[in-house]
Amino acid sequence: MKNFKRTLITSALPYANGPVHIGHLAGVYVPADIYARYLRLKGEEVAFIGGSDEHGVPITLKAKKEGIAPQDVVDKYHGMIKDSFEKFGISFDVYSRTTSKIHHETASEIFKTLYDKGAFIEQTSEQFYDVEANQFLADRYITGTCPKCNYEKAYGDQCESCGSTLNATDLIDPKSVLSGNKPVMKETKHWFLPLDQYEPWLREWILEEHKEWKPNVYGQCKSWIDGGLNPRAVTRDLDWGVPVPIEGAEGKVLYVWFDAPIGYISNTKELCINEPAKFGKWEKWWKDPETKMVHFIGKDNIVFHCIIFPVILKAEGSFILPENVPANEFLNLEGDKISTSRNWAVWLHEYLIDFPGKEDVLKYTLTANAPETKDNDFTWKDFQTRNNSELVAILGNFVNRALVLTDKYYNGEVPECGELTEYDKNALNEITNLKLEVEKAIDTFHFREALKNAMELARLGNKYLADMEPWKVVKTDPERVKTIMNVALQITANLTIVFEPFLPFTMTKLRGLMNLDKFDWLELGRTDLIAADHKINTPELLFEIIEDEAIQAQVDKLLATKKANELEEVIANPVKENIEYEDFAKMDIRVGTIIAAEKVAKTKKLLKLTIDTGIDQRTVVSGIAEYFEPQKIIGQQVSLLMNLAPKTLKGIESQGMILMAENADGSLVFVTPSTKIKEGAEIR
Ligand code: MF3
Ligand code: ZN
Repeated sequence: MKNFKRTLITSALPYANGPVHIGHLAGVYVPADIYARYLRLKGEEVAFIGGSDEHGVPITLKAKKEGIAPQDVVDKYHGMIKDSFEKFGISFDVYSRTTSKIHHETASEIFKTLYDKGAFIEQTSEQFYDVEANQFLADRYITGTCPKCNYEKAYGDQCESCGSTLNATDLIDPKSVLSGNKPVMKETKHWFLPLDQYEPWLREWILEEHKEWKPNVYGQCKSWIDGGLNPRAVTRDLDWGVPVPIEGAEGKVLYVWFDAPIGYISNTKELCINEPAKFGKWEKWWKDPETKMVHFIGKDNIVFHCIIFPVILKAEGSFILPENVPANEFLNLEGDKISTSRNWAVWLHEYLIDFPGKEDVLKYTLTANAPETKDNDFTWKDFQTRNNSELVAILGNFVNRALVLTDKYYNGEVPECGELTEYDKNALNEITNLKLEVEKAIDTFHFREALKNAMELARLGNKYLADMEPWKVVKTDPERVKTIMNVALQITANLTIVFEPFLPFTMTKLRGLMNLDKFDWLELGRTDLIAADHKINTPELLFEIIEDEAIQAQVDKLLATKKANELEEVIANPVKENIEYEDFAKMDIRVGTIIAAEKVAKTKKLLKLTIDTGIDQRTVVSGIAEYFEPQKIIGQQVSLLMNLAPKTLKGIESQGMILMAENADGSLVFVTPSTKIKEGAEIR
């Protein structure tokens, strides 16, 4: 283990093309905030960097759609995002933006340094160009038919129907989003970062020296490296972004993934300019090997933070590299993928209105159920249960009992601690054990585990009071009750420390009720945190029950979204134009039964099926692997289009196509006869 002097915490810069939702919070900002607060509480030197990512094609598309300038788009959402984070108490030391002057200068400078060092490859290639709009077309500005699944609205970089990654030139019948015209090919020059040249170094640095990274992160890096790295273009033909700072590059900007992570550097500079006394010089944070840099991100950002950005830093030569990149998986919402465009999300600015004063409750739920090792699901029911059965029933209940009894028996004056029993001592010793567990968990980025252990301390307090029954003992042995209540209050005071990184608003309130100042983390475990005769204030509840009605209102809101989306789908899919019966009759559709199924190697979506059609057994490759496990669909009857021209997919000849019906969320179900029927039955 290296010894570091300070920690630089970065959190992914969210795109300023929409507000932030619970997925952002759960995946990135809550864990980063817990980590920052914990280290600060330990007295360590920390800088916690945030900001908005304000470049990139989606922002220009959004601006076009709304008929406003890209700057207006990012102004609006940067403001909203910043406000939401502030209200949720995400304790950034700086929250800035990539349209700032200092960022443009910094990104420009780093590009120039790399350019001067000869770190880039210059390459001229042909790209799509819209003659009418007089500009080159980014991948997202081109739509056309997917060559793999024939979906007609695929983008130049990806087909959202079958999920394939595409090149714009693969599209059948490409169209410009700007004019609707067919784009032409035109030569253009770009600069590429030769990632392939860094492969041996990346292998050593990540695969050998950072085996401690989370398995999901390490695994993704390994598969990228093993899959072979290619040069990556770091410039684009676009009029929104950081201009490429060299001659002959007019009309070109830096690729958004080149400039955005440099935003961490620019924002650190801004912080150090604004608060020089506290943070010193920015170089201390970025160039001193005794600084430990940690990137908090979601899993879709892994390659950029573990491979591309480190290669940029390495090529520049004077910067430190990340020590860890604790990326999270995704949070789903009520069983479906969170989607900004489908409005399937819990937006933070709406939550703040619907549940005022309950910021900590959401953060608690998101940490308790954090998608640390696999995708997880947020449900409103679970949110309610976590609040009512954990925050209210365990933490709130214990604290309230301790404070109310102190108020009642001693008028709010902390009683003297008499002789401790073995049971008392064990209870108090447990605080130190739990402290070690929490530390171990946070130090290794296991925040749910850490929170669980913090909660154990509240459980312990509850059990202590339930076992000691001061409300009974008070009638027979009032002296003993003083000791019991003193112990209970020491546990409560310790709770204000252990929960501080997780529930900062609530702990501020609790310290207020107990009339205590903030303790250091190092004092956690002390059994004399609160002195005899110390006067506490009038007790109040820390948390309140969330009623069914409030939960139902949220569920109804989501149901309304679902309905609206379904309706939109119907509108977006108008009935196709009429055909003659002869057209229909050309299709030979028959009932078949799946008799064998296996995944097609190296694909996510494809299954290789063997189908008994009554007249033969044939192979069909079908894009249903995301929704069905091969062994579970053996025996399934299907409708098979028999006379579709055979097509070879991944080296397998597919003889026909099975018919599927699609749910609004894209999931698929088989179209089958309503009762079992013999193979080969014709469908007419
Ligand atoms: N805007 C990106 C996203 O939301 C994250 C950028 S992280 C940075 O996926 F490092 F590039 F800033
Ligand atoms: Zn497709």
